Amino acid sequence: IEAALTDGPLEGRRILVTSGPTHEPIDPVRYIANRSSGAQGAAIARALAALGAEVTFITGPASVPPPQGVQIVPVETAREMLEAVQAALPVDAAVFAAAVADWRVKEAAGTKLKKDGSGRPPRLEFAENPDILATIAQMQEGRPRLVIGFAAETHDVIAHATEKRARKGCDWIVANDVSPATGIMGGAENAVTLITAEGAESWPRMSKEEVARRLAARIAEALGEDG
Ligand code: CTP
Ligand code: CA
Repeated sequence: IEAALTDGPLEGRRILVTSGPTHEPIDPVRYIANRSSGAQGAAIARALAALGAEVTFITGPASVPPPQGVQIVPVETAREMLEAVQAALPVDAAVFAAAVADWRVKEAAGTKLKKDGSGRPPRLEFAENPDILATIAQMQEGRPRLVIGFAAETHDVIAHATEKRARKGCDWIVANDVSPATGIMGGAENAVTLITAEGAESWPRMSKEEVARRLAARIAEALGEDG
């Protein structure tokens, strides 16, 4: 029975998964965030663990419960997420499913911003967040063997995702079409195209769990080929 529980194609492999949104504070009571339930990332972590991987799950404030049987590292901001990712290395594979806020407020206020009665909105100055995926994909030493990014696009999905894969230096991009017409955003299903060095492979629309199982199987196949 023990063997049945622990024996899987990813046995002994260490894999990190980022998931959920990040929250970037404006002041102690307000933040900037991306829309992300964390459902796809959680499903991927579960699917990898089911194949025997030792999973570190680095998650922003998600709205779905975290997966079981994985090491959970809760974070709030993009900068905290990058630190947690670096602390989780070395890993065999890294899956970046988080919806990271591209921008943070340069200096979050220490006290709640108040309306001053003038009717003028506050001026927020922004700074760019670190690109966690690109940072790890471009590591000179100790890079995970397989680095996988996501790309949520509303138009020209394959072109944008192919360009993203090259720009970031990752091995695969899981692209999904989140244009409002698909009804994908916030739903239980996903329609993805896997972009690899070999090209683009569109998967039929399926549940996020099924996407996760297929992706985990591909990861197992890729890691099984060598090492
Ligand atoms: N990502 C990341 N760190 C960031 C931004 C994005 O790790 N600061 C990762 C995401 O987790 C995802 C991939 O990069 O795996 C693509 O995210 P996306 O927002 O589509 O890419 P961007 O380069 O931010 O491009 P865009 O201008 O389309 O938002
Ligand atoms: Ca972005």
